[in-house]
Amino acid sequence: MPKLTGNQRWYRLEDAVQLSLEQLSSLYRQHINPQLYQMLRLIGFERKYVRAEGMYVWDEAGRRYLDLLGAYGAMNFGHNRPEFFQAMQQVQNFPNLLQASMGVVASLLAANLAQITPGQLNRSFFGNSGAEAVEGALKLARIATGKPGIIYAENSFHGKTLGALSVTGRTRYQAPFAPLLPGMEAVPYGDLELLEIRLKAKEVAAVILEPIQGEGGVQVPPPGYLTSVKALCKQYGALLILDEIQTGLGRTGTNFACEKEAVVPDILCLGKSLGGGVMPIAAYITTDEIWNAGYGKFERATLHTSTFGGNTLAAAVAMTAIQLLLDERLAERAKENGTYFLQRLQEMAQKYPVLSEVRGRGLLIGIEFASPEATWFNALTGGALNKLSQEYLASFVAGQLLTEYGIITAYTLNNPNVIRIEPPLIIERSEIDYVIASLEQVFENQGLASLAWKGARSAVKGLLRR
Ligand SMILES: Cc1ncc(COP(=O)(O)O)c(C=O)c1O
Repeated sequence: MPKLTGNQRWYRLEDAVQLSLEQLSSLYRQHINPQLYQMLRLIGFERKYVRAEGMYVWDEAGRRYLDLLGAYGAMNFGHNRPEFFQAMQQVQNFPNLLQASMGVVASLLAANLAQITPGQLNRSFFGNSGAEAVEGALKLARIATGKPGIIYAENSFHGKTLGALSVTGRTRYQAPFAPLLPGMEAVPYGDLELLEIRLKAKEVAAVILEPIQGEGGVQVPPPGYLTSVKALCKQYGALLILDEIQTGLGRTGTNFACEKEAVVPDILCLGKSLGGGVMPIAAYITTDEIWNAGYGKFERATLHTSTFGGNTLAAAVAMTAIQLLLDERLAERAKENGTYFLQRLQEMAQKYPVLSEVRGRGLLIGIEFASPEATWFNALTGGALNKLSQEYLASFVAGQLLTEYGIITAYTLNNPNVIRIEPPLIIERSEIDYVIASLEQVFENQGLASLAWKGARSAVKGLLRR
């Protein structure tokens, strides 16, 4: 037992149940991230959740919430699926980590991934997070082509480690960490002309893209974009890396979003739901040819590794995740229910000017809000509050949905004016109807000015609390 000073105490796992919301808030503020706490509190998201199952989570008071956020795409299968815990039990006697050996379950998983991914993608590397998969993909592209350059898209999101951040097109995330990796250049998402100019001008190892930009506010590219990018990459000898960490595993109505246009990337990144929302696991998958060009020499066998990559428990869960994806036809369900959801939301957008656009594919849907009009409080504060409520209007709507209707949503990281709808793919029609009815009520009762006012009021309260 360590020596405790002042009012410190030593905790046991059992305390997780007993801990009051107040104690939890205090620990989180003291030991994790007080600023993030402020942000959660501002929008009423500072709660203690104690249970999760399928589409729902419960707080300590026993209130049930519908999870429409799905851990930003990591919860395609629903919360705490018993199948994943059974899978871990099934392999509990295997060594979980044994570096100087061939991973048994990891090898099975890699073989299955080779079967369900498009084209000749056949060779997998396993890491623990999306960013790590992206790091591995960027390194593979450089070593396999011998070229330095990487082209990425503005408004993209590929993770926050230094390499992944260097191809994440948002200044707010990049600027504080400059200088980032050299040789990275951004082009507008969806623009083929500029892409070709850049490909012509430079020694480019790879173009990295999301098939649909998730964090960028659910941006769907023009039809044919990926097909043309692939052709340009081929023409100029660059690899195409598709980051399907968020769009993969059924989310957009096909197992992988690139299947919509039958585009096969040279390197495919997966993460998030690959771990069933239970274990951290991510992967990049590539062809034999590209892998061999990069690592196909004896002395290169350990050039890129990861201690926990492909560990038995995570790999067992990932195998089960892929099995569930196929057995439960989750991609088809995402397509059917996503089309219905999108249609209902688009009807709503016709009715309420506060909704400027609804877009998406499958169960990856973004609701974009119009900017609030100038209101008297805005005049009073010289525009400061309007700016605040404009940036965070989506999160105030998310706050309303949570407090009044028990629905969890959030805004997208790169675009705070977009609410993202990304539920587990097991969502039922009746749950979609409940969300639609709740949103109707929010807009019917509130109106934009009132929402902005509410938002500004709670923002002020939040600021005063600092
Ligand atoms: C498309 C995409 N790539 C990469 C990442 C980074 O994944 P992780 O947070 O697991 O590092 C994310 C996370 O949101 C993502 O959406």
